[in-house]
Amino acid sequence: MSGTARFITVEGIEGVGKTTQVARLSEFLGGQGIAHVVTREPGGTPLAESIRQVVLTVGEESVPGTAELLLMFAARAVHLANYIRPNLNADRWVICDRFTDASYAYQGGGRGLPSDHIHALECMVQGDLRPDLTILLDAPVEHALRRARQRNAGIVEDRFEREKGQFFERVRSAYRARAAAEPQRIAIIDATQNLDAVCALIVGQLKARSWIS
Ligand code: TYD
Repeated sequence: MSGTARFITVEGIEGVGKTTQVARLSEFLGGQGIAHVVTREPGGTPLAESIRQVVLTVGEESVPGTAELLLMFAARAVHLANYIRPNLNADRWVICDRFTDASYAYQGGGRGLPSDHIHALECMVQGDLRPDLTILLDAPVEHALRRARQRNAGIVEDRFEREKGQFFERVRSAYRARAAAEPQRIAIIDATQNLDAVCALIVGQLKARSWIS
């Protein structure tokens, strides 16, 4: 992999404004003349997007937590091989809306699957590739879910959006615990602030690493 392309992931529970901030970051990088791509998980390639449909759609049959975890990593293996690594190798930054921290937070924290199983899959699927920077947009669950529900009014909920507040409390705690354990990589940003303030803090993280001037 060549030297300068950065792999940045954006995380948080539903309703924290990830998608908006990913778009803003992309706009900012474009303005700086930095070649980059924007992608998301689960998904990011046609095959991985098909897996996304399978894992998010509410169906008749229940999805065991282990199957959910494996589907997330199956999609990730495809995404890494067919999109993320080729872009990094071509020296394009990759901005990804969710990545493996979401598996630790949702399947680990939310569903209660053991983190050593997740870690084993992380090593198997990613080798030693980890994000260079992870932005954790953090907000109280009640605040975030209110925003998510306003946004989703009239849209059919997916398998995660149907979950209750307690599930998202566990997800949020797991995210925060990961940030506490890896403060160099994961920057927590208070997502209750206005969009401009959040965007400025994200850009500040890039500046702090001297990735941009
Ligand atoms: P996303 O499209 O980011 O949802 P939203 O825009 O509503 O926040 O992600 C879809 C869902 O997939 C989200 O509820 C979190 C879940 N997810 C996992 O449970 N594990 C994972 O590893 C990933 C990448 C996502």
